[in-house]
Amino acid sequence: MAGKIPAHFIDELLNRVDIVDLINSRVPLKKAGKDYQACCPFHNEKTPSFTVSREKQFYHCFGCGAHGTAIGFLMEYDNLGFVDSIEELAGKAGLEVPREGRDDSGPDYRPLYDTLDQAARFYQWQLRKHPDAGKAVGYLKQRGLTGQISADFAIGYAPPGWDNLIRQMGRSDQELELLRGTGMISEPEVDKCYDRFRDRIMFPIRNHRGQTIAFGGRILGDGKPKYLNSPETPVFHKGRELYGLYEARKALRKIERLLVVEGYMDVVALAQFGIRYAVATLGTATTTEHLERLFRSCAEIVFCFDGDRAGRDAGWKALETSLPQMRDGREARFLFLPDGEDPDTLIRKEGRERFEQRIIDSTPLSSFLFDKLESEVDMASLGGRARLAEQAKPLLGKLPSGLFREMMHQRLAQRVGLEPGQLGNRAAVESPRPRPPVRNSSGARQMLSPARRAITLLLLRPELARITDLPYEWRAFRAPGISLLSQLLEIAQNQPNLRTAQIIERWRDKPEYPHLEKIWSTATELPTPEDGMEMEFRGALQRLVEQQREQETTQLLERVSTGDASEQEKQRLGQLLSEKQKIADLHKRSD
Ligand code: GTP
Ligand code: MN
Repeated sequence: MAGKIPAHFIDELLNRVDIVDLINSRVPLKKAGKDYQACCPFHNEKTPSFTVSREKQFYHCFGCGAHGTAIGFLMEYDNLGFVDSIEELAGKAGLEVPREGRDDSGPDYRPLYDTLDQAARFYQWQLRKHPDAGKAVGYLKQRGLTGQISADFAIGYAPPGWDNLIRQMGRSDQELELLRGTGMISEPEVDKCYDRFRDRIMFPIRNHRGQTIAFGGRILGDGKPKYLNSPETPVFHKGRELYGLYEARKALRKIERLLVVEGYMDVVALAQFGIRYAVATLGTATTTEHLERLFRSCAEIVFCFDGDRAGRDAGWKALETSLPQMRDGREARFLFLPDGEDPDTLIRKEGRERFEQRIIDSTPLSSFLFDKLESEVDMASLGGRARLAEQAKPLLGKLPSGLFREMMHQRLAQRVGLEPGQLGNRAAVESPRPRPPVRNSSGARQMLSPARRAITLLLLRPELARITDLPYEWRAFRAPGISLLSQLLEIAQNQPNLRTAQIIERWRDKPEYPHLEKIWSTATELPTPEDGMEMEFRGALQRLVEQQREQETTQLLERVSTGDASEQEKQRLGQLLSEKQKIADLHKRSD
């Protein structure tokens, strides 16, 4: 393995490469002010929120939050590792990547890779030449594999006997040491060692370069353990590797989707039937590292599990691990097979077409999440729906910000019967894109908060305060501007002869003074038709009443779900929700 790349070289490289040129060569950019823009290549969007700054030598997407340097861009966009990105950039800049001396660059693993590759070739050779090979070939045939597929996956045979591999590859101490380092031998006692894999079908596990890094060995027929895996070694970390990913890359020009299954044989059998995009975790649950690797290869992942309880649980685990990875543009689905089947048995029974139809019909992450949570609560009851909200919130909170996250919050709100803002999760109502600042010009007037609108109208026409039967429930609403509005109303009601300037003067020493002044100085520009003012004022106050109800509903829901609500509070909540339902029905009827 080559030495470490010195930090000063990376600095130099980033000095030489211009991020705008680099990105522009892959995603055409348009100048926008001093920056450059395009539709984000990392999520689906119609209006550009992907921005590249020459000044900062940085890209940033306001939609999905993707950001980074030129190196980071290549890693994401070209699916390159860190070192490969640097190599690529250096090549462009005409620079040679220097390497620091071996001493501090960590150990050199090349001999381990060489040893593993040799072992893989040895096993493949044994599958053809060993006197017992017929038995192994017979087993593979009986499982439906052709010679071609076996060759594609470099399947081999570890013959019976204690020391076939050792005799072949461990003739010196140095060679034995390498076999030890790669986990190919077992050593129960000092001076006693034998081949780890004996009389087994050998599945080499290969990394993205095609180097063998470990093996899985299956017993022929019944017996225990059914599968034996290489132990963790410096070149093999189970929680990171995916069996079949290298083979999928090799077989397909472009990977559109990856199917994550459980077993080696599932991957190979699916390939035999023409589904070349299956990969398997190596007897472990799907990890974050797996997912990063999967999503670097393609945007669509389908997890395949048994339909039984254990399969469902494993599926749920995979869902939880996936949530933080669900950037916009990515998709995860779940395929649960009929009881007692695995991909290998099922595709043999029903063939490629019907199996692929299952993949196409598989459950989207969103449905799996909500169906599961809803099956655990009583959706007909208030408390049940409150619990659904409580259960879903932390899960949805794991999603990266973006459109998908917003949609999930909306869906939750729908199911619970609330608006997204009422779920008490600010992120749900916040748009990931920063909104332009609200300006107090006539065009932006509708965007003012109802409190601000009411204050403005009141300043324009203090006599509005004298209208009888104004909505009043909003006074309990906790939001900016409410207390100010309430005080203004009171003064205007009690002292009907005061003009606005005088009213405002009362606030001179109070913190709200600058606000009032500003509202007043711009408010005169508002072309509100005289006769519409009363209606508008009422409307603003009514809107505040609604917002107050939403706030109260959220608080009560939280108390119900934590079991803290009193009878009275529960009644109040029921009343609030049924009113809301009536209003919704009215809207529906008028649609
Ligand atoms: P067969 O079709 O019977 O060859 O196996 P499979 O591919 O259907 O595998 P199974 O569903 O039984 O197991 C799934 C995966 O779990 C395997 O591919 C192995 O990675 C792992 N596994 C299964 N059995 C064992 C075992 O006995 N020991 C270890 N370490 N791993 C196992
Ligand atoms: Mn199987």
